[in-house]
Amino acid sequence: MASHNLNISENVLSWYDRHRRHLPWRAAPGAQADPYLVWLSEIMLQQTTVATVKTYFEFFLKTWPRVTDLAAAPLDDVLHAWQGLGYYARARNLHKCAKVIATEHDGRFPNNESDLLGLPGIGPYTAAAIAAIAFGQKASPVDGNIERVVARLYAISEPLPKSKPKIVEMAQSLTPDKRVGDYAQALMDIGATICTPKKPSCSLCPLSDSCKATSTAVPEDFPAREPKKQKPTRRGTAFWLVNSEGEILLRRRPEKGLLGGMIEVPSSDWREGKNSLKKAFDEAPLTAAWEKMPGKVRHTFTHFHLEIEVVSGTCSADQSIDGIWCRQTEFHQHALPTIMKKIVAHALKHTQ
Ligand code: ADE
Repeated sequence: MASHNLNISENVLSWYDRHRRHLPWRAAPGAQADPYLVWLSEIMLQQTTVATVKTYFEFFLKTWPRVTDLAAAPLDDVLHAWQGLGYYARARNLHKCAKVIATEHDGRFPNNESDLLGLPGIGPYTAAAIAAIAFGQKASPVDGNIERVVARLYAISEPLPKSKPKIVEMAQSLTPDKRVGDYAQALMDIGATICTPKKPSCSLCPLSDSCKATSTAVPEDFPAREPKKQKPTRRGTAFWLVNSEGEILLRRRPEKGLLGGMIEVPSSDWREGKNSLKKAFDEAPLTAAWEKMPGKVRHTFTHFHLEIEVVSGTCSADQSIDGIWCRQTEFHQHALPTIMKKIVAHALKHTQ
């Protein structure tokens, strides 16, 4: 390793010894972190803040202290506990991965990046993070925070996502041979607390002497990004169906696709273009005298905006229909994704 890089990693590690964040999944300095804790925290932390994750993490650990406990839990319990962390596919993969570890790996996580990469829900970032933090293997996880730190350190002008391989390569060349887990987490902490997207605190940064963006440009300009594409808007209709007992019809979405396997208020397909109630009625769970409720429910997913119109209808006791009939007081028993919670709130507001 070039002495310049060695100098950087030493500064980073000594900063970590003084300023590291104390997080429930972290081992004491010098101690080996538990792979289950590292894995669980890394999956939870994808696109969610440390502050949000802490309570979820503690609940999961209390409920399922070992990976084999999580593997033995019913999927619905896991999805329920995940509510609020978003992206249910991650929770499903979390559970799938726990099962693979329990049944195919004797309850122990593989200790190297390439075997970790073969597990459900574990991509290049997570494999590198677990290998480094839990097993001390030389690996360079590059998340959004580290991406920003490295892009600024070298003032990389090429925009993301094209520059990602270059950033990963730079990150690898900076990674020291010792204390790789501490080093990775130090960069995460620096990215989260000092090298922030706006108004970074460069005067507190252990990298500032080496940072090109600080000395020659405006740090906030990095990482450069391709201009964002406008998200399209999809539209659809949700069917608020009430039976003679006053129960509401819910159903499980197909396993594959967005919100796969989650509970929903039955709805039409979500399509771009104008919503047609007439067309939607063909996709209703049954023929009824549907009445449109005022207003719309809006939600934004990663790749599109969604606008839902809600219609209400009733069905008689003798109409058999597949799904889950749910009392208004029992909605909380289901792991409803946020969009469905919004639809429920909207419907309740307009039927009270
Ligand atoms: N973000 C993702 N993983 C993290 C970790 N281990 N520590 C702090 N922030 C993180």
